[in-house]
Amino acid sequence: MRVLAATPDGIAEAAQILRSGGLVGMPTETVYGIAANALDSEAVQKIFAVKGRPADNPLIVHLADADQLEQVARDIPHAARLLAERFWPGPLTLVLEKKPNVAAAVTAGLPTVAIRVPSHPVARELIRVAGVPVSAPSANTFMGLSPTTAQDISPDIADRLDVLLDGGPCEVGIESTVLDMTVDPPALLRPGGISREELERALGGPLSGQSTSEKRSPGQYRRHYAPRTPVRLVDTVSSQAGGLTFGETSSAFQIRMPEDAVRYARELYRALRLLDCMDLKEIQVQRPPDGPEWEAVWDRLQKASSAG
Ligand code: TXA
Ligand code: MG
Repeated sequence: MRVLAATPDGIAEAAQILRSGGLVGMPTETVYGIAANALDSEAVQKIFAVKGRPADNPLIVHLADADQLEQVARDIPHAARLLAERFWPGPLTLVLEKKPNVAAAVTAGLPTVAIRVPSHPVARELIRVAGVPVSAPSANTFMGLSPTTAQDISPDIADRLDVLLDGGPCEVGIESTVLDMTVDPPALLRPGGISREELERALGGPLSGQSTSEKRSPGQYRRHYAPRTPVRLVDTVSSQAGGLTFGETSSAFQIRMPEDAVRYARELYRALRLLDCMDLKEIQVQRPPDGPEWEAVWDRLQKASSAG
């Protein structure tokens, strides 16, 4: 695998690789993804092989622009257009009825397709130049921590990419919010970069409380987003232990986290990844506050600390 700088030449080369069925490490504002042409079944199947991802876990289709929505989705409800208008480009994924041209492998045979328009300028330019919709899961092995810099992509994944575009560190740091727009009101399948509050404010009412089956959305597996070292949520990190704290650190194995939820999310995977390299018995994580803006962070911490 070669690392390409995110210059016009680098992007043009990566776009050509996408068009010819290859895999590209793609920066987005949330996390790095493994990108392939969403209309090319064989290319999409390579993604599943590289990630060791079960075939029944559908992928998100990334578009350069909301104008392209009709190419991959049908029966688009008004609420979806409203949210697209308000939050795209950005870390929101909408689940809609799919058009037949989307490779069945992408949607794991489901009649729906998850779609987002990323705001990272390199991702948008890559998809625009490639001229095809791009399916991309996070560039981690199944269940592991998503990479938030090009260097954080583990060698077992990186070695199997054709090229990797280095777009710098990811702004958001956790994955996009996934919202099922095929039910009314829409249902939150995965909290993420856009908060429930922002969505409810835009829609003028609450999201559905109805939960969908675990199968429908693998982001809902109980254990996910986890380092190899066991993670334990605590009220206070013990003085000699390794972990993430809000206050002063008391050992070299502790990282002081921001008290703002957005900044916390940006640093979370990087911090867990650093501690995961330190050969600790466990990683203690000081519980964050309960406010609604912490929902996505809580979701990731609960999944990272879940035994199975
Ligand atoms: O921020 C992100 O969304 C990143 C970047 C690379 O864009 N991508 C990402 O993809 O997190 P992945 O594959 O790691 O997670 C995709 C999530 C999963 O929870 C999956 O179940 C859900 O989207 N999903 C995809 N298609 C779906 C569908 N048709 N119905 C319900 N959920 C779907
Ligand atoms: Mg993922």
